[in-house]
Formats: sequence, C-alpha cells, structure tokens
Amino acid sequence: MDEVVVRRRDDGALELRVNGVFVMDDLETSSERLLARSALDGGARSVLVGGLGLGFTTRELLDSPDVERVVVAELHGEIVELMRAATIPGADLLDDSRLEVVVGDVRDVVVAQPTGSLDAILLDVDNGPDFLVHDVNAHVYRDEFVATCASRLAGDGLLSIWSMADSEALRQRLDDRFEQVRVEPVDVRLQGRDERYWILGGRRPRGRAIVPT
Ligand SMILES: C[S@@+](CC[C@H](N)C(=O)[O-])C[C@H]1O[C@@H](n2cnc3c(N)ncnc32)[C@H](O)[C@@H]1O
Repeated sequence: MDEVVVRRRDDGALELRVNGVFVMDDLETSSERLLARSALDGGARSVLVGGLGLGFTTRELLDSPDVERVVVAELHGEIVELMRAATIPGADLLDDSRLEVVVGDVRDVVVAQPTGSLDAILLDVDNGPDFLVHDVNAHVYRDEFVATCASRLAGDGLLSIWSMADSEALRQRLDDRFEQVRVEPVDVRLQGRDERYWILGGRRPRGRAIVPT
C-alpha cells in the first residue's frame, strides 16, 4: 500500500509525497494550470483528468463556466479524503455538481468512458515516460493506452500529457494516433532554478469524422 503524505513545509508550501518521493508542491503550478488551458482554449466541455494531486488542473477547468463535466481519476483515495478534510484546499471543488471523482487507475477510468464521449483527456499522473514515480505508470505512455484515449475522444478531441521532459517516442505515438501533434515547453522557476516542463498534445484522432455538437 502506498504511503501518501501531504505536509506544510517550513517555507510555507504544501507538499505532496507518495512513498517518500516528492510528487508536487503548490509553489509553481503554471504547468498544471496550462494543462487545463490546453483543453479550455479548444472549447472543451467534457474533460477527463488523470491525477487530482493538489487540484490545480481541476480547479482551472471548473473555473470555466463553459465546462459541463469533469471526471477526475485519482489512484489514491487518501488524496480525495485530504481534500474533503481541507488539508488540501479544494473541498469546494468536490461539491461542484459538474465534477465526478473516481478513485482508481486512470487507465481503467478512461476505458470505462463511452467511445467518442470526451472533448479532452488530460494526463498528469506521473513525471512523464522517462522519469516514473510508479513503474506501473509506464503503461500510461504506451501506444495501447494512447490509442484507447484516442477512441474515447470526440472527432476534434485532445489528449494532453504533462511531462518533466520532452519525449521523441511519445511524440511519435501521438503522431501515430492523432492528426495534429503539439509540443509545448513550459518554463518555470523552481527554488531559484530555471526548469522546463513539457505538455505534449495530440488533437483529432486519426481516421475519425468530426461531428459538430
Ligand atoms: C502530479 S500529481 C497531479 C497534479 C495535478 N495536475 C494538479 O494540478 O495538482 C499526480 C497525481 O496522480 C495520481 N496518480 C498517480 N498514478 C495514477 C494513476 N495511474 N491513475 C490515477 N491517478 C494516479 C497521484 O496520486 C497524484 O495525485
């Protein structure tokens, strides 16, 4: 069983660790919010998010009145409970009638969605294909799951993936399954250092008609 710890550090930041490994804090969250923007800017109304974390991607989505439905898959039920108990800010999000939080692996939650039902799938469950926190999450970045995501998206749908580093292999997998691939660097300043994160996206699943909604 994984050990989930959320604690307030001496510098005032809220930090999430799983099995002793740093997952994220709330000091620099522009890339998490940008992940949501990648869907919002394309007009997404029905969105699935992989990884609740500290809730920044989900909040950015629900802040938009255009968003009608958000399904969040979160592996660790403790994180949802900590949010409900206000240790992680976001109890208000959990009360939003547009939000459904499913405790489970994002792969199972995506599979359970009807074909073509989502405008966007946003994945931020790990550090990207080459820097995994959970080895089992390697499957999240493989062709089989990219293809499953493509099948659950509407004709103009978007799969957007947060990653600590660019990945030529993941770009290729997206290119195999989507008409358009976009790779966006996100420059952030972390504890006095310049870092670059990445959002890799595929839009318009190949071989599918776009049906106006
Ligand atoms: C980096 S955090 C997500 C950050 C989030 N985007 C935010 O704005 O706060 C990653 C989250 O994904 C969860 N997670 C890890 N593997 C998962 C999986 N296979 N399915 C669902 N959630 C997973 C972790 O427990 C953690 O809450």
